[in-house]
Parts: sequence; structure tokens; C-alpha cells
Amino acid sequence: MAAKILIVDDDANVQRLLQYTLKQEGYDVVNAADGAEGFQLWGTEAPDLILLDVLLPKLDGYQVATKIRGEEGSASHVPIIMLTAEREVEQKVRGLRAGADDYLIKPFHPAELLARIKSLLARFAPRDVLLARPPMGRVLALYGAKGGVGTTTIAINAAIALHRELGRKVCLVDGNLQFGDHRVFLDLGLDRKSIVDIVTAPSMDAELIRQVLVKHDSGVDLLLAPPSPESADLVRSEHLPMIADHQRPKYDYVVIDVDKRLDDVNLGVFEAAEAVFVVMTADLSCLKNVRLILETMSHLGYPTGKTQLVLNRSNAFTGINVKNAEGALKRTIDHQVVNEYRGAISALNSGAPFMFTKADSVLGGSLLQFARALDKQAAVPAPAGISAR
Ligand SMILES: Nc1ncnc2c1ncn2[C@@H]1O[C@H](COP(=O)(O)OP(=O)(O)OP(=O)(O)O)[C@@H](O)[C@H]1O
Ligand SMILES: [Mg+2]
Repeated sequence: MAAKILIVDDDANVQRLLQYTLKQEGYDVVNAADGAEGFQLWGTEAPDLILLDVLLPKLDGYQVATKIRGEEGSASHVPIIMLTAEREVEQKVRGLRAGADDYLIKPFHPAELLARIKSLLARFAPRDVLLARPPMGRVLALYGAKGGVGTTTIAINAAIALHRELGRKVCLVDGNLQFGDHRVFLDLGLDRKSIVDIVTAPSMDAELIRQVLVKHDSGVDLLLAPPSPESADLVRSEHLPMIADHQRPKYDYVVIDVDKRLDDVNLGVFEAAEAVFVVMTADLSCLKNVRLILETMSHLGYPTGKTQLVLNRSNAFTGINVKNAEGALKRTIDHQVVNEYRGAISALNSGAPFMFTKADSVLGGSLLQFARALDKQAAVPAPAGISAR
């Protein structure tokens, strides 16, 4: 059966052009000339995808997207592509926040529109497949060999790539208990619930954890760190492994961003994790730390392969190249992420992760490659139509 696409645009010429392009490709098309009609046709026509203009009479595109997202249940999700004349990042972010899955800046090439439609239909169509199979339940720890090497950047963007690009269900935990900064990276206020609400409750269960999780616009579920350093001590070494055990049956991946301390809390996380990704950069103090970490992991009896090395900013000039680093460590670097300071810092400062708003950037591509590599380590095949992207 052909997929049905709802076009919401008040410009008759644009409508005609879109309709022609889509019909040529064999799609069924329904048209709405304003936001209110678009919202109403979403209800009566149940389209498989919506092309939504931003500037519309009656309800604008953001309002329509917000209304649809407010009304559709958690089991359904109609993909929305926002059509915008604006070039500014804020406009794109606003569209994505309102619930759009993608955006296109006018004028765009029909081939680009068709490619985006195909990829979104592929991403959302396999929901039944996703729901039908049991979650993979893999716990992954990301651990910085040193402060500031990019552990949080990689944890957040890999989590988003696993969910949005590879169709996995992901829970991201900020395990940097004193100075966790997922709130900053994801533009969330201190009023959001955190791990403190779980560990101070009389008992821990799956329902309590569900209520504390924060849903990010990307679709990743977040467990935030304590809002202040003083409350970090409330989290004891047994808590994160217990939370991980509760989350395993519900998620494909529980990704935990841990800080650089080798204390009981972090050792508990390493014990609970299937794999520990040690994030490093190519400098001497990092290499010294990585060597010590690898020794510790081997004393703990972890199999080789459980600890994997991620070289961040791999192509930055430091005087130590990948070969030198591998030689010094006497082992291979398992993953590399490229250096792109502007992309990384502007995403951080705008609270909009690049994997969410600029997945097609160089940094986005590099993180997707990392996410693909770690997803390959799991035995379960990716949902149909997704791995080919
Ligand atoms: N691949 C990259 N290319 C360029 N800059 C990067 C890259 N990854 C991270 N950065 C930058 O490095 C800085 C530190 O990143 P981040 O906060 O993710 O590191 P961290 O290891 O989690 O730090 P902390 O020890 O504070 O938890 C940020 O300014 C970030 O934008
Ligand atoms: Mg960090």
C-alpha cells in the first residue's frame, strides 16, 4: 500500500508542485491549505507523514506540530518534516522542539525532499518490529581518561545517534554525580527531576524510575545528575547498578556518562556494564592515565574487549598521532571521533546536540560511525530499512 502524505501549505503553487513530485513517486497525497485544516486532516486521514509549512493561516506550523504531538499517544508517532523559509538555527531548533523530525529550507530540490521522506518513513515504519522484539538491554559506560576530553559530548551524541539513526531505544544516564552537565548540553533547567529523587525514595522500582526520567525532544530518555554537588553523596555505589538492572528490560541501550574518578561508584558502573568506552585525546597525560586504567581493568579481571579506547579529536595536531599512541599503549585504538571544535562548542552553548540538529555535519557523521560500530557489537540486527541508511 502506498504511503499517504499530508501536505499543509497555503501557497497553491507549492502545493501543486509537491503534489506532482509525490504522486510521481507513487505516494497518496492529501492537501490542507491552513494549519487548522492540517490538524483536522491528521485526525481523519491518518497520514504516514506530514509536510508542514511554518507560516500558515489560523495555526502556524509550530502550533500544528505541538498539537499533534500533544494528542498522539506514546505508541504512535507521525513523522513531520517542517518546510521553512528561515535559515537561522533557532528556527530549526524551534521546529524540532515543537515536534518536527526533520526540516527543509525552501527552496529545496525535489530529490532532497524525496530522500528525506524515504529516510523518515524507514525510520518510523519499523516501530512494530521494534516493539515486537525484546529490548537488547546493553549497559555501556563512557569514561573519560581525563577531564574535558569530550566524554559527555560523545555520550550524548552517541545516545541520540543510536536512537534517531539506528532505531534503538535508549536511556542516557548522567553519572557525573557532582558536576553532571547534561542539563547544560540539553538546555534543561534545575527544576527537572534527577537521580536524587530515586535514591531518596523509600524503595526503588521501575515505575519510580519511569516518573523521574526526562524525555528529550530527540526521543532519548534521560536520567539527570543531582542538581548540586552536595547531593551527589546521596548516591551510593549500589544505586547505579540497581538502576541499570531496572532499565535493562526496557531499553536497547543504557548509556552511562561517568566522571574520571576510579571510586566505588564508578567501579560499580563498570561491573554492571557490558562495555566500558575509555575516552581519551592524544596527549601524554591522557596516555599515562589510559595505561593505568587498562592495568586496573586487567586487575579487576575484565575480559579484553570489555574496555575499548575512543580517541576523541583524533585528527587534531598534538604531536602524537594514532600510531604513536597505539605504540605507547601497546594496543589498538578501537574508535576515533574527529576534531571539530566549532561544531562541538556551538552545540554545547546552544543546548542543541549536533546529532539532533546537524546530524549531517562532519562531527555528526563521525559520531554516527561510532554508534554504528558499537551497535554492531550487539547480536540483534538493526530494524529493517535502517541499517542501509
Ligand atoms: N570531537 C570534538 N572536537 C572538538 N571539540 C570537542 C570534541 N568533543 C568535545 N569537544 C569540546 O571539548 C570540551 C569538553 O567536552 P565535554 O564537556 O564533552 O568533555 P568531558 O570529558 O565530558 O568534560 P568533563 O570532565 O567536564 O565532564 C567542550 O568544549 C566540547 O565542545
Ligand atoms: Mg562530562
